[in-house]
Amino acid sequence: MNAYLQCIEENCQKKISPTTKAHVCPDCSGLLDVMYDFQITDPEKTKQTFQQRRLSNDPLDLSGVWRYRELLPFCSDPAKVVTMQEGNTPIYEAPHCAEYTGLKRLHLKHQGLNPTGSFKDNGMTAGVTQARLMNSRMVACASTGNTSASMAAYAARAGMKAVIFIPDQQIAFGKLSQSLDYGALTLQLEGDFDEAMKMVKEITEESEVYLLNSINPFRLEGQKTIIIEMLAQRGWKIPDRVVVPGGNLGNSSSFGKAIKELHDLGFIDKMPMVTIIQALRANPLYKTLIDRSARLIRVEAHTLATAIKIGNPVSWKKAMRAMEWTRGWCDVVSEQEIADAKAMIGRDGVGCEPASATTVAGIKKLIQTKEIDKDEDVVAVLTGNLLKDPDYTVNYHQNNLYEKAAYKNELIERKDKIQSTYANAPLKVKARKAEILKVLGL
Ligand code: F0G
Repeated sequence: MNAYLQCIEENCQKKISPTTKAHVCPDCSGLLDVMYDFQITDPEKTKQTFQQRRLSNDPLDLSGVWRYRELLPFCSDPAKVVTMQEGNTPIYEAPHCAEYTGLKRLHLKHQGLNPTGSFKDNGMTAGVTQARLMNSRMVACASTGNTSASMAAYAARAGMKAVIFIPDQQIAFGKLSQSLDYGALTLQLEGDFDEAMKMVKEITEESEVYLLNSINPFRLEGQKTIIIEMLAQRGWKIPDRVVVPGGNLGNSSSFGKAIKELHDLGFIDKMPMVTIIQALRANPLYKTLIDRSARLIRVEAHTLATAIKIGNPVSWKKAMRAMEWTRGWCDVVSEQEIADAKAMIGRDGVGCEPASATTVAGIKKLIQTKEIDKDEDVVAVLTGNLLKDPDYTVNYHQNNLYEKAAYKNELIERKDKIQSTYANAPLKVKARKAEILKVLGL
């Protein structure tokens, strides 16, 4: 086997077997990387192999993750791979968003068009495959909704029992409905995501249950292919910058690892900058970076973008490393900026869930502060599908979105209104032809 696990802490770097169930270093509790003795001698030839596989109907080649298997060679038995043809997501040019942000051109890679509607599928095919290689029968995760939806689907495909830990009342219904339909045992915990994460870590450490949060380094191997596929789609033309939302920081971590490995192996000769955008009040990475703190500065997270409502992200050190390797940066955007950017993405006919819109909001802000130049070649990664959280979108367009809202069967309190700058509210019209023609101006 040419894969092994290695502690990322510079003064430890312990190597351990890839089949250990531990998700952190047994000596120093550091995060782990999956490492390889890569067998790639001619990157140009490997790029051609990737391209040729697009014509193949082999299940591995049809997957936008396993098509690139030479860059994540931890599974030597193709029969063990659990795939749903994940990845294969489009890159769209977004002229409205470009104008809105101040960029000349902007591209959106839409990971929301994955089988379960988020980028988590890129990671979950790898994570559940590793669970199968380890003969696990039960898998678990804490989630703000998308990881759980994805894990539930892939576990169902693999015939494994899925247990999900979600913060009660804090995940969007689109996501909750998925895990219920895919048959996962769904535990709604009192408290927030960070508490759910703590519980699932403790329980999986002490039992046979296999943990599939992004602290699991195999998940991140799958998510590397978001970068690899993006580069392959662009004929290996390297963008200046990749912009990604930051929550538990798995995605940004995997982007950093992908870019570093592609560079070290000679696939690319420059590194696109990884720029991470957090919500203003769910900003632990930003705070840690600005304060130059050696420890994570945790926060109590608040944002309507529930996917990234995380105050104690597990992969923060890997995200720091990604920014260091690529000369990247982290910034924050307000709830108002997220809401308006989301509406603008919609105007390009694309659509995404709120967390994904941090990217376009962040680009606009960074153009204003001159961190990004208007000529830069930028790819923003949209992480989740618009239909995951329709309530947010409908409330925005009906001028009814509040930063703070409390429900007890019905809305009982609301504060801090978000302006519906680009509202497109539905019109109530009588079912009479004359009236409709009048509304249409005909
Ligand atoms: N965007 C969406 C739509 C997400 O679901 C998440 C994370 C992120 C961005 C942030 O990505 O954690 O890799 O930094 N959702 C997780 C979940 C936490 O449980 O579904 P990250």
